[in-house]
Formats: sequence, structure tokens, C-alpha cells
Amino acid sequence: MGQITEMIHVASLIHDDVLDDADMRRGGAAVHALYTNKVAILAGDYLLARASILLARLQHFQVVEIMAAALDALVQGEIMQAKSKKEELSNMEHYLRKSYFKTSSLICSSCKCAALLCGFDENHSLTKAAEEYGYHLGMAFQIIDDILDFSGASASLGKPAQADMVLGLATAPILFASEDHKELIPLIQRRFKENGDVGKAVALASRTDCVEKSYALAEFHANRAIDALMRFPASEPRDALLKVVHVAITRDK
Ligand code: FPP
Ligand code: MG
Repeated sequence: MGQITEMIHVASLIHDDVLDDADMRRGGAAVHALYTNKVAILAGDYLLARASILLARLQHFQVVEIMAAALDALVQGEIMQAKSKKEELSNMEHYLRKSYFKTSSLICSSCKCAALLCGFDENHSLTKAAEEYGYHLGMAFQIIDDILDFSGASASLGKPAQADMVLGLATAPILFASEDHKELIPLIQRRFKENGDVGKAVALASRTDCVEKSYALAEFHANRAIDALMRFPASEPRDALLKVVHVAITRDK
């Protein structure tokens, strides 16, 4: 299940870098920059095809259905991001829903499937706990990713700084800042398209506690993930999953 999830995840990032026109990934050249868009699309498709074969080989109908729905959610998340209406762009709830679709749904579904493959049924409290763990871990991970992009820590992420805003996207820090500085809303709604919009938005936001608020939101999700995890009996794998939450929330790259 982990291998399948990783293959889907990598496929989605190879395609994402084409969509986002991002030439760097984790300090190295993105696949499309190293080769071409055609190679990147085919590489992603190939990984997805191989992941589908492995998924079918698990011979668990419910798991196949859940993971197929997770793929659907990933694409829906990207469509939500690309097609957001003006009012949605500046709406925190819409941002969180999109984050669930594009990031958290895959982790959440994969954790749920791991429980099903262990023999627990869908309504078992541990299946629910596994699903909740994945949901909150995914949300915490994406919010931290967005904070790092915003705060310019992106150099150590191997990605250009404020890439989200350059792409026209407002994430948690800017959305929190817009609660204090309403003048940010028109900039968000026009996707930072006018000259100087990105610089103006960063300057306004840096006078607020938007980064602290975003960290608090990520920590809320991290704590909920830990609560869910603690419903499992103590074990080495549980310790490892706890470490994953810790890494997701404390990473600076
Ligand atoms: C990264 O977000 C992107 C995702 C988490 C999902 C991408 C999904 C697709 C492109 C749909 C196609 C799916 C498959 C399986 C081929 P980001 O751009 O905010 O993060 P980044 O800064 O790391 O690029
Ligand atoms: Mg991207």
C-alpha cells in the first residue's frame, strides 16, 4: 500500500510540475525540465499504470475503489485550484477543502486502506482512527508546505520563493493576513496579476501574525493526527507514525 501510494504521489508531482511550470523539485531539475513535457506526462502516466497493476494485485475490491476515488480527488483538487472563482480564491474554507482534495485525500485513503488490508472492516474504530490520522497529517503537511513557500524558506525546499502567489494562489498565510488587511482581498481575487502585487502582498502580510496563525492551524491538525494515532496500541510502527507527524510539522525544507 505504501509503495502504491508513493508511486501515485510521485506521478502526481511530475504532472504537477508541468502544470505549475516549476523547473525545480527538491533541489533538482524537475522531470519536464530535465527532459520534455512529453516525457514528464508519459513518466507520470507510466507510474500511475504500474501503481494500478499493483493495486489490482492486492485483490481487495474495496481498497481498489477507495484508491480510485483518491485519484479522482487528486485531479479534482487540481481542477479546483485552476478554476476557482474570484470569491473562492479569498475564502479560507475553499482553500482547506482544496487542500484536502489535492493532498490529504491520498494519505487519508491510503491509511484507511492499510487498516482494511489488516482485516478491520470499514466501521471499525481503528479503520476510522487510521483514516483520521491520514486526513490530519495531510492537512498539516500541506499547510506547512504553504507556509514554507510563503516565508521564502523555499530556497531550502529547492523551489523558487512565493511560487504559489506567482501562480496566482493564496494560501493560509495570505488568507489569515487578509482578515487584518482587507485591502489584500482584491489582490488575491485578481490572482496577484498586476505589477508589484506579490511584493505588496508580502509586505502587508509580514506586518501581521499570519505565519504564527498558520503554524497554529497546522499544529491543530498535527495534534488531531496524534490523538487518532494514540487509539492504536503502543508499538514500533506507531512510534514511527508519530515521528512522521513530528517531521511534517517541524521541517524547514
Ligand atoms: C502539489 O501541490 C500537487 C499535488 C499534491 C497534487 C497534484 C495532482 C495532479 C497534478 C493531478 C494528477 C494526478 C495524477 C495521479 C497523475 P503544490 O503545487 O502546492 O506543491 P509543490 O509546491 O510541491 O509543487
Ligand atoms: Mg506545484
